[in-house]
Amino acid sequence: MAKLQFKDKWVLVTGASAGLGEEIARQLAFGHGANLILLARRREKLEKLQTELQKVVKVRIIVADLSKLEDVDRATEEVLGGDELYAAVLNAGITYFGLHKELEWDYFQTMLQTNVVGVTRMTNRLVDHFEATGREGGLLIVSSMAAIFPVPYQAAYSGTKSYLLTFATALSHELKNRQFSITVYNPGGIQTEMTEGEKFNELRGWLMPVKQAATEAVQAFRKRKLTHIPGFLNRFGSVFLKFLPQKFVMKQMSGVYGKSLFKSSKP
Ligand SMILES: NC(=O)c1ccc[n+]([C@@H]2O[C@H](COP(=O)([O-])OP(=O)(O)OC[C@H]3O[C@@H](n4cnc5c(N)ncnc54)[C@H](OP(=O)(O)O)[C@@H]3O)[C@@H](O)[C@H]2O)c1
Repeated sequence: MAKLQFKDKWVLVTGASAGLGEEIARQLAFGHGANLILLARRREKLEKLQTELQKVVKVRIIVADLSKLEDVDRATEEVLGGDELYAAVLNAGITYFGLHKELEWDYFQTMLQTNVVGVTRMTNRLVDHFEATGREGGLLIVSSMAAIFPVPYQAAYSGTKSYLLTFATALSHELKNRQFSITVYNPGGIQTEMTEGEKFNELRGWLMPVKQAATEAVQAFRKRKLTHIPGFLNRFGSVFLKFLPQKFVMKQMSGVYGKSLFKSSKP
């Protein structure tokens, strides 16, 4: 299958108001000449990015809350109803870092709706579209290394990301349109708004610069890789750790993440 060519094509990026999504959008515009549909809840942030990017490409924005099904459907129809869509980066997501027993049910439901239900709903509609039209394109779904190695104190978040990895990987093998591909992106920690809080202080040295995470995401997407973990050490670790007993690995991870979490809550 030929590589994705983004130049002058329309690409949707969800969660484009901050972090990884914002940087992917920037690289798609400046590095690949893609026209962009930027989606998130914070209009002012999207407008700021739109002003920056429309110096080189065309940019539309959609303000939508992807934890709400009606917004997901409205946004998807808007995306498919306008200029021809070539590709989509489903990146928007939220996490919870803390004791699972302290995770409020309402927040859990919002996380589930945003990370799992919204992404599945949008994926279904986009896959239907590309299968029915036979058009060339691609879908990048942002999961996490937490999908491969569940993270203690991010138990529910890890579950949502595991779902995305298994769902999208399996679905990619049901596609009939040979010009359309699905890529699942599994980064480890990244320096973004998500990891800004003091709970992440002890983990900061492990976080990847967002520019690098975005560059690897766009490269993997362009090459239509099925899955990709950015960073040599992350990739090496993900192979190496599979040879160790899971109980041992989880204990080490629990120590590292717990230290950072509990240090931050000390008075
Ligand atoms: N940072 C990490 O260490 C890390 C590691 C592995 C995977 N990831 C994944 O990478 C993706 C991006 O994360 P990030 O680190 O860039 O996070 P971030 O800096 O917090 O940005 C999250 C983006 O998602 C949007 N978003 C959140 N909830 C939304 C909703 N209900 N509706 C629409 N947009 C929503 C936010 O925009 P608004 O607030 O304006 O809506 C923002 O643009 C996520 O899927 C995350 O799970 C992150």
